Amino acid sequence: MLCLDEMTAASADRPGRAPDIAIIGAGIIGLSCAWALARRGARITVYDTAAPGRGASWAAAGMLAPGFEAAGEQGAHPELFEFCLAGAALWPDFADALTAATGVALGFDKTPTLAIATCAGEAARLAALEAALAAKGVASEALLASEARALEPTLSGETEGGLLLPTDMQVDNRAVVAALIDAARQAGVAFADAEPPEAAVRIQCTGWRTKGVAPVGGQVVSLSPDAGRPTRVVRAGDLYIVPKSDRTLIGATVEPGRTRGDADAEIVADLQARAARLCPTLAAGGVLEAWAGVRPATPDHAPMIGWTAPARLVATGHYRNGVLLAPITAEIVADMALGGAPSELAAAFAPDRFAAATP
Ligand code: GLY
Repeated sequence: MLCLDEMTAASADRPGRAPDIAIIGAGIIGLSCAWALARRGARITVYDTAAPGRGASWAAAGMLAPGFEAAGEQGAHPELFEFCLAGAALWPDFADALTAATGVALGFDKTPTLAIATCAGEAARLAALEAALAAKGVASEALLASEARALEPTLSGETEGGLLLPTDMQVDNRAVVAALIDAARQAGVAFADAEPPEAAVRIQCTGWRTKGVAPVGGQVVSLSPDAGRPTRVVRAGDLYIVPKSDRTLIGATVEPGRTRGDADAEIVADLQARAARLCPTLAAGGVLEAWAGVRPATPDHAPMIGWTAPARLVATGHYRNGVLLAPITAEIVADMALGGAPSELAAAFAPDRFAAATP
């Protein structure tokens, strides 16, 4: 596909200038693509009628979790874990470059996540995850309950065992989106609260509002960081505790079809109570904020990245891994938008894989 030609044609009235590209959607994916392309000389406008970075990227917990989110995910794209691992490998340089450009501390923390089990079902899930990682040649470390509690002394006696995941880290996603907006502006990216011109080369980064992507809500509560808490991300089943410098996040529900941004009082109370069973000091944590985000889900829980028509790229559907996959998505999109071919791994996430599966 002659995508670079398409873009050159779009800029034909200004020979010698970099191509103009419209990015639709100012979430972490759109912002990362904008910054990557602007740094490569493209002229970028990001279009969004909502405030930049205040959707799913703001609502997220900032876990960078190839292991827990992708290695044992039933029904997921067969290469999702490899893609998530490749995405995680870009994070140290991405974080360094973003902090160098903006001075913003991103809370990028490589301390391995601790997954714990409090019942036989969760213990079986951790054993399966450990086996899935080992089969891929990726290390994790099974811990006895006493070892998990020695590592994280605020954990309760409900802890029956653990799995330490060196693949799984965290970052402060709200700091990241704030920094991306700043870095993108510094690199010359314009922001418009409008619809993009039809003729522009477009990169669609519209999350769950994209055709073929389904919304899956998730409610989260943040507590004051004063209460005793784990020093690292702790997960048990679908519950997670994520310590940030200024808050402790507890999430999350998984609610297909839910798009509301407000949280339900009883769900907030339940999340805090469940977290307090794992870590009793959290019972005393004052609630700072509660909200719901919307994960953009594709049928195989993996993103769609690639051309859908001449001059039309899409990068969406990152489901539970939008923060993790933002840097790698931006590099793939920038390569493709500027005329490059995707790597074999990136090509596996082309949007036409769903059309191909339809008889
Ligand atoms: N990645 C965390 C979540 O989707 O809840």
